[in-house]
Amino acid sequence: MQILVLNGVNLDVIGRRDPALYGGLSLNELERRVYEWAHALDISARCRQSNSEGEFIEWIHDAYADVDALIVNPGAWSHYSYAIRDALELLQVPVVEVHLSNITEREEWRRTSVIADVVSHRVIGKGPEGYREALEFLAGKTSVE
Ligand code: DQA
Repeated sequence: MQILVLNGVNLDVIGRRDPALYGGLSLNELERRVYEWAHALDISARCRQSNSEGEFIEWIHDAYADVDALIVNPGAWSHYSYAIRDALELLQVPVVEVHLSNITEREEWRRTSVIADVVSHRVIGKGPEGYREALEFLAGKTSVE
């Protein structure tokens, strides 16, 4: 099983953002954990991050042919990018939306995710462990909520 893990805008600097919200890990550390968790689940993961919305969308387009599942944290794009939503909607593989922080209990504008209804599963507010839960979901180790 080949899984693509896409982190979007400003996720490259999570190590410098509020640790109470984002867990305090650098992106490198987070990605290292993702690779370890994926290895333990016997799945193959590839992590990528971009601050360019166009590049991010190209990767989603490529995922159509190349991967078995996608984990996506678009960062602030989650709240307003209909372009990312349209790209995700094209995918026929399972997509899990992850947010490190609990966007449902933060500022009003963060409570809306424009991708929420085009994903298969959502993991919100569980910090870096949320990526593990997403991998487990995709590996079929947990039941669908
Ligand atoms: C985030 C939540 C977004 O509101 C924020 O803009 C981010 C990260 C999260 O993982 O909690 O950059 O997606």
